[in-house]
Amino acid sequence: MTENVKPKLETYLPPPIIALVKHAGERASELAMGVYLVGGVVRDMFLERPNYDIDLVVEGDAVRVAHALANESQGKLTTHSRFGSANLRYPDFSIDLATARREIYGRPGALPTVKPGLLADDLIRRDFSINAMAICLMPQRFGDLIDLYQGKQDLKRKLIRILHPDSFVDDATRILRALRYEQRLGFRLEANTEVLLRRDVPMLGTISSDRLRHELYHMLMKEPKPEKVFTRAEELGVLKQLHLSLKDNGWLDQKFARTRRLYKHISLATVYLCLLVYDFNETELGQVIARFNLPTTMAEAARHAIRLKAKLHELDEPKLKPSKIYRFLRPYSAQAIRANLVATESPVIGEHLKLYLTKLSSARPSLNGDDLLKMGISAGPQVGEMLTALHNAKLDGMVKTRKEEEEFVRSLRSGCP
Ligand code: CTP
Repeated sequence: MTENVKPKLETYLPPPIIALVKHAGERASELAMGVYLVGGVVRDMFLERPNYDIDLVVEGDAVRVAHALANESQGKLTTHSRFGSANLRYPDFSIDLATARREIYGRPGALPTVKPGLLADDLIRRDFSINAMAICLMPQRFGDLIDLYQGKQDLKRKLIRILHPDSFVDDATRILRALRYEQRLGFRLEANTEVLLRRDVPMLGTISSDRLRHELYHMLMKEPKPEKVFTRAEELGVLKQLHLSLKDNGWLDQKFARTRRLYKHISLATVYLCLLVYDFNETELGQVIARFNLPTTMAEAARHAIRLKAKLHELDEPKLKPSKIYRFLRPYSAQAIRANLVATESPVIGEHLKLYLTKLSSARPSLNGDDLLKMGISAGPQVGEMLTALHNAKLDGMVKTRKEEEEFVRSLRSGCP
């Protein structure tokens, strides 16, 4: 018998979203089409985890349903007629509508050929049973759960299970997705899925750099504890398939946790990445940058991180002047310095890096070149030299107020700083 989850859905989704999905059901019905809530939001409803990434699948034409819905709500509509999909954006959430599709996989790793299909076609092409449930939104069947692959049972058993034996061959990014879900939800791979995953790890070689980078971003930016995904990836032979030198020997666990403790208000992805490649040489790093087609800022931070690591011992000196610390660290990106602060075991180096990040990097004298000229310093290289000397004095705490800065400049001019 079909289970109806209307009351659960109505409690889970905020009222404005409920109103919209009901409207979507009504409009689709009028057009003699079917519309269903699918994917992550259905999974997360059963798990009672908030998720308002609303994905709808339309049996028929998603773009027409989206137009009808846009006409009666304030959503900003974007359509992709070629893909039969549309997006409706509201101030606090957005709804994706896609025409139900049938996918035919040609070459492993390549994107599939797509044809319009029924809901069942759309569900079988999905990654895991827990992501392949749908809820009917048409008025006469509103709330009916469509669970063709026992997704709900797998949620109860806390299992990640693929829908057919060639799933990872068709799309090896699912290997990485499986590990993310396992760790995020505290689930396990179903036994046969694990056997097939281990068998198909080499298929990751068929995935393009851009798709791999997308998965890496997901791990580093969206997972609360990315280190758990890397640990599991190591266990299953996935890490070394991505790059032979990538490993997780327990060090990452401690360092990623420390990263979260140290930096509460910045995006951590680049610091995590620097730590992931912290033991690499330049050649290995170059290979990883190319394999994931990493953007310039991330690649540069990673390069800086390993270059700084090689010279870090120079900061292991308790009485180092702040101006020296500043000049030493200034060439490196802040993210690379943050990663080294996480990585170092030396309290002295740690203090110096912290001092740089929290104070020195932003400490500037109040006087600028114009002020110096106004004070009677003649234009020329000496202005730059005096500004550097003034900056150093500021860093070293020799001058604090603007008045002290002016006195310092005057003393420099008279030759006795
Ligand atoms: N999907 C898939 N295979 C992929 C990517 C996505 O089958 N390689 C399907 C899954 O059914 C998934 C849905 O597309 O639920 C939406 O994908 P995505 O937004 O990446 O995942 P969510 O399930 O929404 O989950 P989350 O963002 O929480 O990872």
